[in-house]
Amino acid sequence: MDTRVRIFDTTLRDGEQSPGASMNVEEKIIVARQLAKLGVDVIEAGFAFSSPGDFEAVKRIAHEVEGPVVCSLARAKADDIDAAWEALKGASRPRIHTFISTSDIHLRHQFKLTRQEARKRAVEMVARARGYVEDVEFSPMDASRSEPEYLYEVVEAVIEAGAATVNIPDTVGYALPETFGQLIAGIRKNVRGIDRAVISVHCHNDLGLAVANSLAAVMNGARQVECTVNGIGERAGNTSLEEIVMILKTRKDVLGLETGINTREIYPASRLVSGITGLSVQANKAIVGDNAFAHESGIHQDGLLKDKSTYEIMTPESVGIQRSKLVLGKHSGRHAFKTRLGELGYDIGGERLDRAFERFKALADKKKEVFDEDIEALVQDEVLRDEMPERFRLVSLSFSGGTGAQPCAEVELEVDGAIVKETGTGDGPVDAVYRTIARITCTRSTLLKYSVNAITGGTDAQGEVSVRLREDDHIVLGQGAHTDIIVASARAYVNALNRLEYKRKEKRESVI
Ligand code: KIV
Ligand code: ZN
Repeated sequence: MDTRVRIFDTTLRDGEQSPGASMNVEEKIIVARQLAKLGVDVIEAGFAFSSPGDFEAVKRIAHEVEGPVVCSLARAKADDIDAAWEALKGASRPRIHTFISTSDIHLRHQFKLTRQEARKRAVEMVARARGYVEDVEFSPMDASRSEPEYLYEVVEAVIEAGAATVNIPDTVGYALPETFGQLIAGIRKNVRGIDRAVISVHCHNDLGLAVANSLAAVMNGARQVECTVNGIGERAGNTSLEEIVMILKTRKDVLGLETGINTREIYPASRLVSGITGLSVQANKAIVGDNAFAHESGIHQDGLLKDKSTYEIMTPESVGIQRSKLVLGKHSGRHAFKTRLGELGYDIGGERLDRAFERFKALADKKKEVFDEDIEALVQDEVLRDEMPERFRLVSLSFSGGTGAQPCAEVELEVDGAIVKETGTGDGPVDAVYRTIARITCTRSTLLKYSVNAITGGTDAQGEVSVRLREDDHIVLGQGAHTDIIVASARAYVNALNRLEYKRKEKRESVI
């Protein structure tokens, strides 16, 4: 049997469904380029029919990002399939991924379809997609809670209709490794024509078993794993790309399987996705967490000094973590800056690069040492933010306070092109600035979270502020970085307000 496991990355589709993690088109393209560098086999770039933003992202990634197959999700509906094709046509390696539920729970309560009707729709829509493109994937949603005999029937029928990949989702993260492995073995045994298709799996992490279930599936013959960088995704997320890839690599002795992933690009991909989505990675997260290679105990440190293999089953370098992080200083030129940006996953040029370089020079003048984290924050703050239409722009800010003085802020914002200036007070300088900005922008949003981090050590470090805002059913994240944390706070808030505007607009245009 084939020993190559295909990696299907759905960071830009299922990953983007994480609350507060939406990305704009430019951000998605930057992530997609890093995924191509990482060597994923398939990028699920979005759900073309769902909104103009997703349509544009699928279209641009399919046409601009070289290497992986680029895929759009589509419900088993004619309009969805047609929109997916509209976005993908002309691309070098397009795939349409269509789905419909097969569990009785979903069919009865959500879709109001009989089993026969669902199977018929699946076959018709796979055939419709095949009318456009050779590479069609089908998912029987909620497969792990579907009746196996019916599932076999549907899988057999869609292969007959031309699906080249059949993806078995554990949509609600309910499966257990042993039974999920048996389900895959059952499909291989009972579905006629299964050898003509690749079996894929798509596991959610509600019980913390997504990676274990995916592993059980590949041990039983699945040869594609759907996963996301840092395991982000709907609810508790999806199978983590870095974990499944490093399991297959580190335990090749037992599993005998491989992927096409360049594992040295894993850490840059993790940082990039975390920076862009604002979903931070827990310190003890396997492979990419801050502590994943940090040895605290004296006994462990002693062993490591004698021989790394005593306590290290893989090296940090093998996943792209560099031990020395100091990169650039005030004498570094544009070329060195661009090269480092590329290594960090930000493949940018032209005017965007000029602006980032200007910011870098200004920062290097203020700080003795500029670290990777500084550069990432600067690029995210300055460059990516510019790609989103900005209704609000921070023009200037001053504040005063101190022991015994009422904190007071004066804020100048550009709102729809016009300058508005106001002053206000608050409990502290950040409160004064936020109250003033809220008044100027007339926002109805609630601040759910405010956090500030020193990006690197030292009192000259940049402060990075993250805020989470909610307005109705929209949750957005805003980020800002500056050596002055009050300015960083104001930038983060304004950034979040712009993202809310963007979301609202997307929602108005969205159809599902
Ligand atoms: O979780 C799920 O079932 C999905 C499908 C659309 C593949 O995301
Ligand atoms: Zn999913």
